[in-house]
Amino acid sequence: MSKVARIPGYQSKNPKQNRGIIGDREIRFKCSLQNVILDVLRGRPGWTEVPGDGDWDFYWCDREWLHQNYDTMFLHEHQKILHFRNHYELTRKNLMVKNLKRLRKQTEREQGKTEAQSFDFYPTTYELPSEYHIFVEEFKKNLGIIWIMKPAAKSQGKGIFLFRRLKDITDWKKGEYQPLSDQTRDVPETYVVQRYIENPLLIGGRKFDVRVYVLVCSYNPLKVWLYRGGFARFSNTRFSLDSIEDTYVHLTNVAVQKNAPDYDPEKGCKWSTQQLRKYLAAKHGVDKVQKMFKAIDNIIIKSLQSVQKIIINDKHCFEMYGYDVLLDDDLKPWLIEINASPSLTASGKEDYDLKFGLISDLLNVLDLENRLTGKEKRIGGWDLLWDDGPIVADDNMDCTPANGAAVSTPNSYLGCFNDRKKQLREIYLTAQSVKKS
Ligand SMILES: Nc1ncnc2c1ncn2[C@@H]1O[C@H](COP(=O)(O)OP(=O)(O)O)[C@@H](O)[C@H]1O
Ligand SMILES: [Mg+2]
Repeated sequence: MSKVARIPGYQSKNPKQNRGIIGDREIRFKCSLQNVILDVLRGRPGWTEVPGDGDWDFYWCDREWLHQNYDTMFLHEHQKILHFRNHYELTRKNLMVKNLKRLRKQTEREQGKTEAQSFDFYPTTYELPSEYHIFVEEFKKNLGIIWIMKPAAKSQGKGIFLFRRLKDITDWKKGEYQPLSDQTRDVPETYVVQRYIENPLLIGGRKFDVRVYVLVCSYNPLKVWLYRGGFARFSNTRFSLDSIEDTYVHLTNVAVQKNAPDYDPEKGCKWSTQQLRKYLAAKHGVDKVQKMFKAIDNIIIKSLQSVQKIIINDKHCFEMYGYDVLLDDDLKPWLIEINASPSLTASGKEDYDLKFGLISDLLNVLDLENRLTGKEKRIGGWDLLWDDGPIVADDNMDCTPANGAAVSTPNSYLGCFNDRKKQLREIYLTAQSVKKS
């Protein structure tokens, strides 16, 4: 007889539920990645990996696979798969801004200018080459400021550079954009040119941005979960606007920073979001920090609403986004980009534990084992943020920040204490008794 491990924090009297069983059989998964996600899936009690083209219940696929297969595959009732069909509407840098601009305009038309100001969270951005002329007009109105150029569909800081003079970009343009009639070259790659945030909040003289994890289980109605854990990624070199060509100063991607000459792999370049929240609350006061986290909630909801009608909503699909949020020295959060495949490779023990908990709890939210009631507002480290409308905080939810100070009902639990295992035990017990009665 095979030995079956227990699902942490849960024990049902029904042995099938302890082992992760759909109906009469175990849950079969496939996974395209070789990192923490695979460890979680392989370690999950009762879940089995299916080889090759075998039937699956759960597939953590890569985006390329989805694009090649989505239109020809038929999904059964119980099947769950990562990514929505056209996820790039939000995760390609040019499309994200296009969708945000559209919803902003619509909001201004229907609800007025003040309401539209709630969209003031992305830096001025243009798509190149298509909006080159509008960009030049804007450039001339603001001579001297810094702009950042980014390929629309690349990641990890690849192809990014900063500039102040139009000449820098015209030189680059000559090399990059040959006329389309030149048959030796492909269609030019799409870029975005974006206003560079010149006044980032610095800690110890260094720039950082915040990685926020967001889970969308449905776009219609919109149902959104926010993970309370995450991290701040620091640049390795002190911030200065004198050396705009130095990527180690200006790009906070781990993929960039780990190549810096003085990078210390032991120390890494991350702080947990808990540590960040604690530090900011001590330095800037709880109220200001709460306002800042509330503004991050607004960014998440507005950005998802901007594609709500465009994303092909499919009940089999879910998406775990990695938001890149930059704070300026006034503690205003700016949306930099949204990733559909945030890195799940761990850069150390703490990072591994964070990602392991993140993915385990994501599976707990999806609940293929059908152990929960479906009414939970918090599942492990995931807090329900939006369910066809805002979620009002329960007073008895534990929102103690890392420093232990009591805080009255913050809207966001990002960076709050994450006692996920204890919380899971409690909700599974409650769900069992609800189901029995
Ligand atoms: N407008 C901006 N202002 C300031 N810093 C920025 C801006 N855009 C990007 N950055 C920095 O560059 C990094 C990489 O940019 P990002 O848009 O996330 O592209 P990538 O897909 O390569 O990660 C960010 O993490 C941030 O540190
Ligand atoms: Mg990024």
